[in-house]
Amino acid sequence: MVDAFKINGGKKLKGILEVGGSKNAALPIFVATIIEKGTYILKNVPDLMDIATLSKLLESLGLKVEKIDLNTYKIINNGLSTLVASYDLVKKMRASFLVMGAMLANSNKAIVSLPGGCAIGARPVDLHLKGFEKLGVNLSIEHGYVHGEAKELKGGTFVFDFPSVGATENIIMAAVKAKGITILENAAREPEVEDLCNFLNSMGAKIKGVGSSRLEITGVEKLIPGEYSIIPDRIVAGTFIIAAIMFDGDIKVKGVIEEHSQSFLSKLEEMGVKYKIESGIFSVITKLSDLKSIKITTMPHPGFPTDLQSPIMTLMCLINGNGEIKETIFENRFMHVPELNRMGAKIKIDNHMASIEGVKNFSAAEVMASDLRAGASLILAGLKSEGETIVNRIYHVDRGYEGLVDKLKKIGADIERIKTQA
Ligand code: EPZ
Repeated sequence: MVDAFKINGGKKLKGILEVGGSKNAALPIFVATIIEKGTYILKNVPDLMDIATLSKLLESLGLKVEKIDLNTYKIINNGLSTLVASYDLVKKMRASFLVMGAMLANSNKAIVSLPGGCAIGARPVDLHLKGFEKLGVNLSIEHGYVHGEAKELKGGTFVFDFPSVGATENIIMAAVKAKGITILENAAREPEVEDLCNFLNSMGAKIKGVGSSRLEITGVEKLIPGEYSIIPDRIVAGTFIIAAIMFDGDIKVKGVIEEHSQSFLSKLEEMGVKYKIESGIFSVITKLSDLKSIKITTMPHPGFPTDLQSPIMTLMCLINGNGEIKETIFENRFMHVPELNRMGAKIKIDNHMASIEGVKNFSAAEVMASDLRAGASLILAGLKSEGETIVNRIYHVDRGYEGLVDKLKKIGADIERIKTQA
């Protein structure tokens, strides 16, 4: 049996949705506590399955992870008990592969299971490995594990073929204590990469160019652990803003950081959305019926984020006219489309391009989440549709949307977690 959400949609929703800490900033920052011995206090950590999974992996490496309260963790690193990150933990969450860079920084050695692919794509790690080699790491792949070892990590220059978020984060963590200077060109610029750099610099790392695609990292002898508060989750914020637009502004969103969401917000403006942000509360002034369809292409930051592609597609299904979304980051990130079409949407796919013809509303149906953001897009459609929608395999959504059922109930949604056959 697995969890599903049962939604009795078509209700009037009204109230404030609060944005929690960023999953994709918290994960690399948790991993970075491997680099240096000491005690860390991490705040505004989202209460999510992925954080629990990573906590188990850190403990398997010998760290102590204590949950002080719902969103605060204390991590004690008294040294690693092993340099092997095993398949059974890495397979649960591919971001676990980020431990490779931190373990190399800690001990010049790491044996980490290759992460599998996932529903949205093959998710190779070739750029991570090429970057490690530039820092003097000797690599070999044996029986599904990457073995990395270096006499000492030396600064080097590395140009990313593609601004990979994970590869950028992995190499940054390997480089912060390497001998000499590391230059990264065409590095990922996502706010979550920036947050990792700010966390490391708060511990005495020397990373210049934070937030730009050119990073200059001067290796230091030692980092000094301390406290840090994670940035809000811009993808959860975007998902909640889409709900606000779908419900004609009766929903407001708390915790929106405009500068993290520029491309998303400018696309909303292109649709005709009028909004205001007052003391951190985002509210929409326009009605859904006022909006017009547009074209969107997902790009690395600061372009339109791929993680908001499926949620904004749900919105675009309800806008008069014909919209288009091109997915350029992942090879298979349209699996929510057949599910939305089962709910009455009119979406056609041609390779990486989705063409969307606006409809009046969705019709409630039983559907299946295929990944975290696809699940969110189906929940949004279910909240809007008259009648009962069941969204299966909701464990995907539990990985990235903290306390979603409670937050939606608080604004009037009729939603509950049920058990269904897998
Ligand atoms: C991060 O994944 C996020 N995950 C993803 O969020 C997000 O969709 C993605 O960045 C893009 O923004 C976390 O931060 C934990 P990439 P990551 O490396 O690091 C190819 C969510 O919903 N690539 O930037 O894996 C890769 O195949 C998740 O929260 C290589 O070819 O993304 C993909 O097509 C989903 N070789 C593209 O780059 C490599 O060595 C982007 O991948 C690495 C990546």
